[in-house]
This record gives sequence, structure tokens and C-alpha cells, in this order.
Amino acid sequence: SETPASLIMIFGATGDLAKRKLFPSLYNLYQKGKLSENFAVIGTARREWSHETFQSHVYDSIKSAGGENEGIDQFASHFYYQAHDVTDSDSYLGLKKLADQLDKKYELEGNRIFYLSMAPEFFGTIASHLKTDGLTDTKGYKRLIIEKPFGHNYPSAKELNDQLRHSFSEEEIYRIDHYLGKAMVQNIQVIRFANALFEPLWNNRYISNIQITSSEVLGVEERGGYYEKSGALRDMVQNHMIQMAALLAMEPPINLSTEEVRSEKGRALKSLRPVEGDEVEKNFVRGQYGKGTIDGKELPGYREEANVDPASNTETFVAGKLLFDNFRWAGVPFYIRTGKRMSSKDTKIVVQFKDIPMNLYYKAKNELAPNLLVIHIQPDEGITLHLNAKRIGQEMETTPVKLNFSNKGLHGMNTPEAYEKLMYDCMKGDATNFTHWDEVSLSWKFIDNISAVWETKKADDYPNYASGTMGPKASDELLEKDGFFWWPVT
Ligand code: BG6
Repeated sequence: SETPASLIMIFGATGDLAKRKLFPSLYNLYQKGKLSENFAVIGTARREWSHETFQSHVYDSIKSAGGENEGIDQFASHFYYQAHDVTDSDSYLGLKKLADQLDKKYELEGNRIFYLSMAPEFFGTIASHLKTDGLTDTKGYKRLIIEKPFGHNYPSAKELNDQLRHSFSEEEIYRIDHYLGKAMVQNIQVIRFANALFEPLWNNRYISNIQITSSEVLGVEERGGYYEKSGALRDMVQNHMIQMAALLAMEPPINLSTEEVRSEKGRALKSLRPVEGDEVEKNFVRGQYGKGTIDGKELPGYREEANVDPASNTETFVAGKLLFDNFRWAGVPFYIRTGKRMSSKDTKIVVQFKDIPMNLYYKAKNELAPNLLVIHIQPDEGITLHLNAKRIGQEMETTPVKLNFSNKGLHGMNTPEAYEKLMYDCMKGDATNFTHWDEVSLSWKFIDNISAVWETKKADDYPNYASGTMGPKASDELLEKDGFFWWPVT
């Protein structure tokens, strides 16, 4: 169905995210007839651009994202631009005037989305001005979409949140975690709660451990400035990795409402055992990439990248063990790992089931492999179930078999981009796949304990993994000491 009439105001409209994700996503919704004809976009940024320059920028971004020709001109004609100084009230009054005009012209019913896609230091300032300069004073809905990073640690996130709350209520704040827009991340709860085969087994009696990997081949690229202050822990673990863990660990919600789903995730995070002091070294591993070869290409180490300190203590890899202290999960480790310049771009979840009580087939040559449920998040999207079956032949021998389901294969087309789903949800007023402040604050508190140790104790072995590998040795040892290993499953 269609979204309601909306005005979308994008701050940071000349930036990379807008170009690569937002414009193409809106266009896809438009193409599919999911976007109301009554929509308009105001782009703003420091640069002086005309409406026409902006429209042709939008046009180009859609073309380079592989969009069809059809209707792009028509689509782009809904885009307007106004140069803007985020600290200057006059500048907001100009935006308000344009917004009011477009509201009339496109019959937008006063519905407004403010999308902050720019340097986080201005998030608070912009939100305050939106209120004091009257932009949020509208008869329709008002919503704020905010990109990460949401703070740098718990205190700064809290300060930012308090600031936003002067202008927007919690229900009006849509904090983006783009992993929550991924088709297979959304599928986690369906796999769990719609299958009699899994739901009864989803606990510490039948599951031995869960492994969540999100590996990247790209290095830090041109984001050295940002990444030096962030590192993999804040960049990936605080948000995406912990969110996936929460979806795997949470109790079944009583229904699928925004409130129930988010509160169950929040409860799961409340049971996450804090890792502090000496425990940090035992349960978490940090890494930084050195030089190495990927696809025959020699690549520099992290410390040689642009805008990176040659003696940098920033981690580009994290592996860790999460423990949820509750009845369902007591004793079951959730291992996570993520890093840059690893051997493949791959996000997946492996659920390893416990061994069955005895192996009847032991006298035959094969040992039984444990059952695995693999959820492929990207680039493949699907599910693989690893089972044991009888090998064809005279003997009673076992052999591992795989049941495979591919999301893309079934529906015969690419699943929508995360941003497409999230923009659509926001226009519909559905915040389920955005993070609630309770989740954000709990996950920062968890992370802060770890960074407190890492920041005071310099890593003396950096770089400790070569580009093109799966991380430092200590990451393998983290599982080995519990009697497990990272499943190299495909
Ligand atoms: C972003 C991080 O949140 O996620 C990036 O800031 C990272 O450093 C990206 O590359 C990974 O997202 P995806 O969708 O490519 O897995």
C-alpha cells in the first residue's frame, strides 16, 4: 500500500549516504507505486546549489545505482534544494517558508520527516532549531530520522538524546540501524517464531553456541578521520552486532507491535552480562589489519591509510563472547566477530545445536557432525540446515547433508535495500525496525566497559592480522578454549 503524503527534509543532501542510498531507495518506492504522489523532498547542505543542480544530482545518483530510465525526471521534479547554515535561525526560516510552499503545492497535509544524514556534532543543534524556528509546528505528523553514530559512549548518547527530546518525543525519533532493514535480519524472528521445528529447541537445552560474523573486505577507505575515533567496537558492535544478538536472544513478543518487539529486545539486553576489568581480555579480542594481498592486490595496513595515526591504537576487528544471564540462555555463548579487510564480505549467523545423547553410528567411519542452522544475511540471503543422513551404499554410514533455501532464488528478484524498507516504514509510522533509546543506552553501557579497558591499555601487538585473513589468532583461541571453533560454513 501507499505511504501517506510526506515532505522529507534531508540535512546533508549533498553527501554520500543521500546519493548512494536515500535517493535510489525513494526512487524504488516511487517505481513500485509505494510512494504517495503527494511527496516532496527538500535537500539542504552548506553548498550553494540550485533546484536544477540538485535534481540532476538526484538523477545521476539513480542512474549510477542502476535505476531504469523510466520516470526519473518526473520523480526528480519533486526535489528542491536550499543552502543552509545549521547554526543560523534565518536559514531555518528560509527552510520553513519553502516547506510551507511545498506543503500547499503538493498537498502534504503538514506531514514532515526530518532526516539527519550528516556530521553527528550537529544533530542536537538542528533538532533544537527545528522546534524554535517553527518547522516542527505543523498540523501533520513530524518525525526525526537520525543516522549513526548515536553518541560516542553512554554519556554523550544520553546528552544527545536529552537534546532531541526537547523537540521530538521518543515515538517521533527514528534511530537508524540499517541492519534492521536487511531482509534476512528481519527474517530472524520469522524463522524463530513461525516454525515448530525451531521454537522449542531455541534455548540452552538444545543449542550449544551461536556465532555471528560480519566480515568486510573493504578497509577504512576515506573514512580514516571518523574511524580513528570510532573503531570497530563503536562502528559495528555497539549497533549492528548487538542488535542481531538481541533478535536471536529475545523472548517471543506477545504480538508484533513496535512496543512489544522493542521491549523484548530491551529485556534481552538487560540480561546481557557486563564484561568489565580483567574479564575484557578474557572475553574480547581486538585486532588491527596489517598489509596483505586480496585478489592479487597488495593492500596497505591500517596505519598506512589516509588520516590514520601511524601508531594508531584503533581496532579494525573485534571478536567477543556475549552471555545472556536468563533462564533461556544460561551457559550458551553468543560469539560475535566483525572486521575490515578480512577475506570475504559476508554476514551470517551459525546456530550450533548440541550433540545428540549417543552416536549409534560411531563404529562406521564418520563421526556425526552437529546440526547447524545457518542464516545467511548477505551477500547471499537464505537459510541452510546441516543434517546427518545415510550415505548411499551397503554400509550403515552417515554423511552430512545440507538443506538450502535461497531468498533471492525463490522470489526471483533482488530483495529491497535496507534503506528502502526503512524509509517506507518511517513514512508509515512504523518504528519497529528502528532502535529505541532503551536499547541504545543498554548497548552503550555494555560497550563502554570494554572501551574503558582498551583505551587505557595500548594493544602491543598491532597490526595483528594480515589483510585478507579472518582476523587475529586470538579470535580462534577465544572459541577454542570453550571447545568450539568458528564454523567455516558457506
Ligand atoms: C556501517 C559502518 O554502519 O556499516 C561501516 O559504519 C560498515 O563501517 C557498514 O562498512 C557495513 O554495512 P553493510 O550493510 O555493508 O554490512
